[in-house]
Amino acid sequence: MELCKVFLWSLLCFQCWWDSRCLALRGNDTRLYRHLFNHYNKALRPTSGPEDILMVEIGVTLTHIIDMNEKHQTLTANIWMTMAWNDSHLTWEPEDFGGFKALTLPAGEIWKPDIVLYQNVDPYFSGWSTDDTYIKVYSTGYILWEMPTVTMSSCHLDVSSFPFDSQTCVLKFGPWIHSGKELDMRSMADEGSLESFIDHPEWEVGSFKAKRHMIWYGEDFNIGTPYADVTFKLVLKRKSTFYVFNLLLPCLLLTFVMTATFFLPSNCGEKLSFGVSLLLSMVVFQLVLTDVLPESDNLPWIGKHENTHFSLLTLLCKITIFPGNNVCFTN
Ligand SMILES: *[C@@H]1O[C@H](CO)[C@@H](O)[C@H](O)[C@H]1NC(C)=O
Ligand SMILES: *[C@@H]1O[C@H](CO)[C@@H](O)[C@H](O)[C@H]1NC(C)=O
Repeated sequence: MELCKVFLWSLLCFQCWWDSRCLALRGNDTRLYRHLFNHYNKALRPTSGPEDILMVEIGVTLTHIIDMNEKHQTLTANIWMTMAWNDSHLTWEPEDFGGFKALTLPAGEIWKPDIVLYQNVDPYFSGWSTDDTYIKVYSTGYILWEMPTVTMSSCHLDVSSFPFDSQTCVLKFGPWIHSGKELDMRSMADEGSLESFIDHPEWEVGSFKAKRHMIWYGEDFNIGTPYADVTFKLVLKRKSTFYVFNLLLPCLLLTFVMTATFFLPSNCGEKLSFGVSLLLSMVVFQLVLTDVLPESDNLPWIGKHENTHFSLLTLLCKITIFPGNNVCFTN
């Protein structure tokens, strides 16, 4: 009986020794992972109570303007997103786990805010919840989520002063379902970052300011719910040199030639054929312009200018054909 007891005790001791050995061999990160995720539920918002508002910080770095489409009123840009928040369920003491201060994990493992881009028009893009990205978790519970992405967003473009126009595009980021009572937003800086921006041949960035809003959706303030968002206002100035040389200068030269037409004697043929060739070149210009500009009521001044010339030239041709003193008719 005694022997049996001793045997059992020694078995137990061996088991304990073996377990601790295994745990030590398995590594401190594995132990930490088990410590963090044994009771973690990624479906739940990581706050202590229902009244707690979770603060999400957002930062945007604009690296490249891929396309600015006046016709479809869209802006395609390459941006780097950064989001950060505090997850109260993911904290640990680094000393207890071999000095691990941070852990890099697949983003699908933990809770993430449902931040969307309000102006998104890309049909293949659905929010930021891509689980293929990685996330950094710090021992204080601080979560850092960074990802590069290409966004296609709608942007109201006013081309009335083309080619000397500047456009303002708005990128509004906010949670779609979580109201302001659950999730608040804050920008990491007053401005979006442009430090890695690659120069665009046509557009120059004027400013890229960030602003936080809390907007009430709903008629009544008492019933409605506030929703937080951070709005980045991207002001783009068009570099007009290309258009000045390829569009404006030929147009002005044509105008100059046109004025000379009025001084031509109304002899048979000459004035008329000159006027008609000018008319044709104007038509070509108009075609080029309509290719560049969106189909909107807001005609740019260069278009108005072209139309005035068109009317004047038409009038000129008509006068040349129906005169009292035309040589063609008197002969
Ligand atoms: C996270 O917590 C730290 C320390 O309490 C605080 O300084 C920081 O602002 C918090 N960050 C966010 C995004 O709430
Ligand atoms: C885990 O951390 C402890 C304490 O810092 C250390 O002694 C041990 O060697 C570490 N284990 C492994 C497998 O690295």
